[in-house]
Amino acid sequence: MSRIFSGIQPSGELHIGNYLGAVKNWAKLQHQHECIFCIVNLHAITVPYEPAELRSRTREMAVSLLAAGLDPERCTVFVQSMVPQHTELNWIFNTVTPLGELERQTQFKEKAQRQESVMAGLLSYPVLQAADILLYRAELVPVGEDQVQHLELSREIARRWNARFSAQQDYFPEPKPLLTVTRRIMGLDGQSKMSKSMGNTIGLLEDSNSIWDKLRPAMTDPKRVRRTDPGTPEVCNIYQLHKAFSAPATVEHVAEQCSTAGWGCIDCKKVLLESMSGELNPIRERATELRANPGRTDEILRAGAEHSSALAGETMREVKERMGLA
Ligand code: TYM
Repeated sequence: MSRIFSGIQPSGELHIGNYLGAVKNWAKLQHQHECIFCIVNLHAITVPYEPAELRSRTREMAVSLLAAGLDPERCTVFVQSMVPQHTELNWIFNTVTPLGELERQTQFKEKAQRQESVMAGLLSYPVLQAADILLYRAELVPVGEDQVQHLELSREIARRWNARFSAQQDYFPEPKPLLTVTRRIMGLDGQSKMSKSMGNTIGLLEDSNSIWDKLRPAMTDPKRVRRTDPGTPEVCNIYQLHKAFSAPATVEHVAEQCSTAGWGCIDCKKVLLESMSGELNPIRERATELRANPGRTDEILRAGAEHSSALAGETMREVKERMGLA
């Protein structure tokens, strides 16, 4: 049974891109593997933020993950800053990571462009990510497509550290990404990846009215101008969301109605809203229950941190021993 690790930033609400690209898969994988899932609040402080907001978003992220199906009986859920070995290994990995590799990371270049001044933490962000994964010697990392480059770097860091400090038998595995078919969900603008920073998201816990307010004006097939124009489902973002949320028979029906102009885009979106509500309403209800009992979430995070700390402590003892630090 391979060990799985993945993380999510508490930099905003959990949106359906996160859910379809990663978190829904986490809930499935917890039945098949040993799984560790982390709310990476130390990654979230690499761009400007408000401390009080970060605290409440971290909690809200824990509630969302549990509501989305993570079961503390089957997986470990914890907050990164509660296990200090993440930053300890981050520092160690900084010493085996070439600067050039960090400078060419796409996410760094994109985020750096949006900042007035760029801090060293933003550059070192993927090194902390490598530390997250390798601290638990995890082999598989379920993520969306945007994290694949960071994982390549994690493998490179594992290789370099192994070559220098564990020549006999590799101590760290080279972690591989686990992608889903919904590895890249586009935003409602249909132009760029769904992401909080683009303001094109649907929150996992949003109510149906608010989802409808976003779906109604959302981008569809750009060539379908009039109601009577037949559409091309494959180029339509709404159709992609049907594939993620609707039953196969509905997806087939939607394709047929679109390509024959049987339905207009609004008809199609109404059916999508129904499918989404079917999946998201129970998640929202679980979140309401969890919010009513905050002590339960605290306890889950505390137990998660305790379990992770024990594993992290073992790795750091080995690492320090091999590096002449202990
Ligand atoms: P984050 O917080 O941006 O996103 C969490 C997960 O959601 C996926 N995702 C998407 N998948 C499909 N379509 C989208 N539009 C979409 N937007 C987000 C992401 O790929 C991710 O799997 N650097 C990471 C957090 C991290 C991490 C780690 C991940 C820190 N340490 C260790 C794995 C292992 C990030 O910012 O994810």
